[in-house]
Amino acid sequence: MKTIRYGIIGCGLMGRELASAMARWCHLADMDVRAELIAVCDRIDAARQWFVERMPSVRQSTADYRELLANPDVEAVYCAVPHNLHREFYCAIIRAGKHLLGEKPFGMDKHANDAITACAAQHPRQLVRCSSEMPFYPAVQRIFAMIESGAFGQIIEVNTGFLHSSDLDPNKPINWKRMVEVNGEYGVMGDLGMHACHVPFRAGWIPRNVRAVLSDVIKERPDGKGGRVPCRTWDNATLLCETTDPRGGEPFPWTIKLQRIAPGEKNTWYVEIKGTKACARFSTKNPKLLETLHYTGGEQCWQQTDVGYEPAFKAITGGIFEFGFSDACQQMLAAFTYELAHGQPLRPAAGCVTPEEAALSHRLFTAALESHSKQATAAV
Ligand SMILES: NC(=O)c1ccc[n+]([C@@H]2O[C@H](COP(=O)([O-])OP(=O)(O)OC[C@H]3O[C@@H](n4cnc5c(N)ncnc54)[C@H](O)[C@@H]3O)[C@@H](O)[C@H]2O)c1
Repeated sequence: MKTIRYGIIGCGLMGRELASAMARWCHLADMDVRAELIAVCDRIDAARQWFVERMPSVRQSTADYRELLANPDVEAVYCAVPHNLHREFYCAIIRAGKHLLGEKPFGMDKHANDAITACAAQHPRQLVRCSSEMPFYPAVQRIFAMIESGAFGQIIEVNTGFLHSSDLDPNKPINWKRMVEVNGEYGVMGDLGMHACHVPFRAGWIPRNVRAVLSDVIKERPDGKGGRVPCRTWDNATLLCETTDPRGGEPFPWTIKLQRIAPGEKNTWYVEIKGTKACARFSTKNPKLLETLHYTGGEQCWQQTDVGYEPAFKAITGGIFEFGFSDACQQMLAAFTYELAHGQPLRPAAGCVTPEEAALSHRLFTAALESHSKQATAAV
């Protein structure tokens, strides 16, 4: 079986998640290619040590990403570092000849993203993709199939979003994700935005313009050293986009809700599509429930289907069981690894976010910043 040898740069929350996905590769049933983690990089020794102690395949551990990129055995890199480092690290990874699965937002701002997009375009032989795992939930894969078959008819409206309550506690100390200079001006849009754009963008639904309302709910936080500091990142964002479907050309509204302060929500990613022939909705709040409505002229009935463990990349878990966040991360890595080995995704819905889609998200979020500051609709 072909093996793709990976390095991970950024051994934090997401670095560990993707390493775990590689460590349990045997979970995937039919893959003809394997991911193996051989190198890790983090500026914090203890962060790297976690990997070294648990993963015997790791042969290189370094605090300097340049050393990892100089390792000829590393073919592909998963990079999960704070947003202000994306531009430097992603461009260096691509220029070093490695394939890149980079975390969103794929550059702290549009300027950084433009540089990454240009770098990827200059190196077409390398696979460059942006992380976004939620569409790999089996119910969302079914929604993709409905989109591809034209089942919705004319699109009436689309609603997507990602809701957390992780910042509801005003006494939670500030960290890099709440600092404008590290997280970026986008605030919550940089953190959660790409997740909410993945399905509509892959469907070909392109926003023409946006009216955004951004909220800085909690303006000050403990600094973790006994004092308090300003917290200037946008906590919540509501975007209303005028969007077109290439199939019919008719405009429709797409609302995007991105909230770090959404009482009662822990990690709720959702998608809802309403069309003239069918509707569908899914939320990770109830991760195996797919709701659909097929309109054939009679009663309009919402149906509830329990979608079990039926991912794009088959796994050993029985079809009746539940699918979760760690599974979605592994499916995303499988999609990247499959595309690397085969030169194309298994199918469009089972492919990772492309640099073009990431660039479109930056156009949208930059327009949203403009819309909020001018209190007017902005062109995307
Ligand atoms: N796909 C998702 O669901 C998801 C979820 C959370 C975060 N993210 C994204 O993942 C990325 C990282 O987020 P996280 O939550 O893992 O953050 P984290 O803070 O847990 O981890 C970041 C790691 O980067 C390391 N680092 C910082 N500077 C470095 C340097 N100069 N050289 C080497 N390592 C360095 C830190 O020491 C830390 O271990 C961000 O882009 C974030 O938006 C994605």
